[in-house]
Amino acid sequence: MDDLNQVKQRIAQLRAEINHHNYRYYVLDSPEISDAEYDELMRELKQLEEQYPQFLTPDSPTQRVGAAPVEAFGVVEHPLPLLSLGNAFAKDELVAWYNRTSKLVAGKQFDFVCEHKIDGLAVALTYVDGRLTIGATRGDGFRGENITQNLKTIRSIPLSILKEAPPRFEVRGEVFLPKAGFNKLNQERAEEGLPLFANPRNAAAGSVRQLDPRVTAKRTLDIYIYGLGYSEGKATPPTHWETMEYLKSLGFKVNPNNRLLTSIEQVEEFHHTWVERRESLPYEADGIVVKVNQLDLQDRLGNIGHEPRWAIAYKFPAIQGTTHLIDIGISVGRTGTLNPYAILEPVSVGGVTIKSAALHNEDDVRRKDIRIGDTVVVQRAGEVIPQVVGPVISKRTGKEKIFTMPRHCPVCGAETIQPEGEAMSRCTNAACPAQVQERLEHFVSRGGMDIRGIGESNSAMLLQEGLVKNVADLYDLKDKKEQIVKLERMAEKSVSNILNAIENSKQRPLSRVIFALGILHIGEEIAELLAKHLGSIDSLANASREELLSIPAVGPKIADSIAAFFRQEENRKIIKRLKDAGVKLEEERVKPEELPLTGMEFLITGRLEAFSRQEAEAMIKALGGSTGSSVTKKTTYLVIGADPGSKLTRAQELGTKLLTEEELTRLLRQTA
Ligand code: IVH
Repeated sequence: MDDLNQVKQRIAQLRAEINHHNYRYYVLDSPEISDAEYDELMRELKQLEEQYPQFLTPDSPTQRVGAAPVEAFGVVEHPLPLLSLGNAFAKDELVAWYNRTSKLVAGKQFDFVCEHKIDGLAVALTYVDGRLTIGATRGDGFRGENITQNLKTIRSIPLSILKEAPPRFEVRGEVFLPKAGFNKLNQERAEEGLPLFANPRNAAAGSVRQLDPRVTAKRTLDIYIYGLGYSEGKATPPTHWETMEYLKSLGFKVNPNNRLLTSIEQVEEFHHTWVERRESLPYEADGIVVKVNQLDLQDRLGNIGHEPRWAIAYKFPAIQGTTHLIDIGISVGRTGTLNPYAILEPVSVGGVTIKSAALHNEDDVRRKDIRIGDTVVVQRAGEVIPQVVGPVISKRTGKEKIFTMPRHCPVCGAETIQPEGEAMSRCTNAACPAQVQERLEHFVSRGGMDIRGIGESNSAMLLQEGLVKNVADLYDLKDKKEQIVKLERMAEKSVSNILNAIENSKQRPLSRVIFALGILHIGEEIAELLAKHLGSIDSLANASREELLSIPAVGPKIADSIAAFFRQEENRKIIKRLKDAGVKLEEERVKPEELPLTGMEFLITGRLEAFSRQEAEAMIKALGGSTGSSVTKKTTYLVIGADPGSKLTRAQELGTKLLTEEELTRLLRQTA
């Protein structure tokens, strides 16, 4: 490609394509190509610009670090720019980086710090006199958005430093949404018919860039600090590793998976280990970051453009790919929901072959404009079940078919309905075999009655043979041992094991039984709260709406669902049979005096940063504490927020114990 005109043309074409994909990804949240394909385009462009610097222009997509800041938040100038990282995709590229680096430091010895490259968003936190004053996004690297209020809702970000710290410093880190929080958020959004986030990074970015910090606070965001931007007025350690140890000692959260390594072979091994084990991480990581440990050498190495020479991102293999959507199937869930899923031409994504993927609900399919016959982008991101990101519009032939939800249940043929205001269509037949099987599988699952030995295939067989028609029938199986032993893949020993497991399940705590019943909207946490507050299935069945609504975290949706469940004759019969079989359906209620803050009176003065006063008081009360309105001898703790009032003086006179907001948070966290 030595004809200069041709080079120039190729560069223009690459820029146009990359700009188009940036827009699809960042603005529309609907990428058309995989990250790996995008990286490849960027790489080609970067290489051409390096080779032919006469064609490099400031508006090239290679010159942009991140999205431009949104004015609504206020703009923060970064005193020191926030850099991005160069990439290595294979071992030889890592070794090339190492060789370059060694040469530049004239053979001086150095170590490496290896960290996960977490898929979230970079933030810079400024502390002045021990208090968090500004939290900002990276923005374009020089100017970011002021998202201090939102970042303050992240509990792992210290609002003040209790130890002696430099009078002014800035730390940098990655804010992220753990996989569990991401899955939960998308599930809730699917149920509410809202657009889903494509990956945890978009979800984290969307969460911290909320104009209303209360929305941010509801998401389970977390942070790992990975660097010290600058610090004034106090000496800091000479290496990156020691700096991280120092920041840990100041109260910052540093990833425990970080390692200090001495050779490039060890770096390769660290990468290899995590390529294999990345699925087990609670967060999404797309590679590792390799950093030169010695800070004097980092300085000497410096940056080229936006990228430091002293660090490199060594990426994991792609977990996105493109394939052909053969058809859209429907599975019927435990509560009758019709769940569309993609039937795909098998494709290998990050070493795993994907043949099907979740599509969530009809609205989601329509919003993403996914059509049967499309070429689609699929990804595994934070979810065990892969998802379809969206169609590749440019590959359309015109023969693709628009999908509509069937009017009849594909399993039992009953009519389907989409209740007003709900995103999911449902099969109306509670006796639909698919629903019955899902309920049975849920009942025996680990979080439920934990009956080992009855998985998907055995549930199906027991139902098919007519040995079980509902969950209560499980407890009659002991009289049918002969029949079960004769079934396929069953033997004396395995049947005994299953029957023992069924017997043992009678002692499961009440919360597990409530969860196992599969009442709509009752997850494990709500089940626990219900068990704690009501103490028995009978009290749950007979609880009034008001009584249910007085339990923290129970809203109208849950209260209605409980009422609807117990209104059904069939369900009441099942519970009666569970009781007769000896399943424990009661447990001791937590007596108020046993709660951790019982007997303690709290009083709050001044403004709290991370939560409203009402929220703090609700948390104290939930743990058994009480709250007062003035300082008296009975006050156990006075919590001091910003600009405390006269209560502080009164408390000092009385010698009342004082708590900072941070100490209160810690106390609540420890006792919750
Ligand atoms: S170091 C100059 N360490 O990756 C050093 N970055 O493209 C740049 N990231 O914007 C940052 N985990 O948001 C560093 N352990 C880690 C990281 C990390 C994730 C992100 C960060 C940055 C991007 C670099």
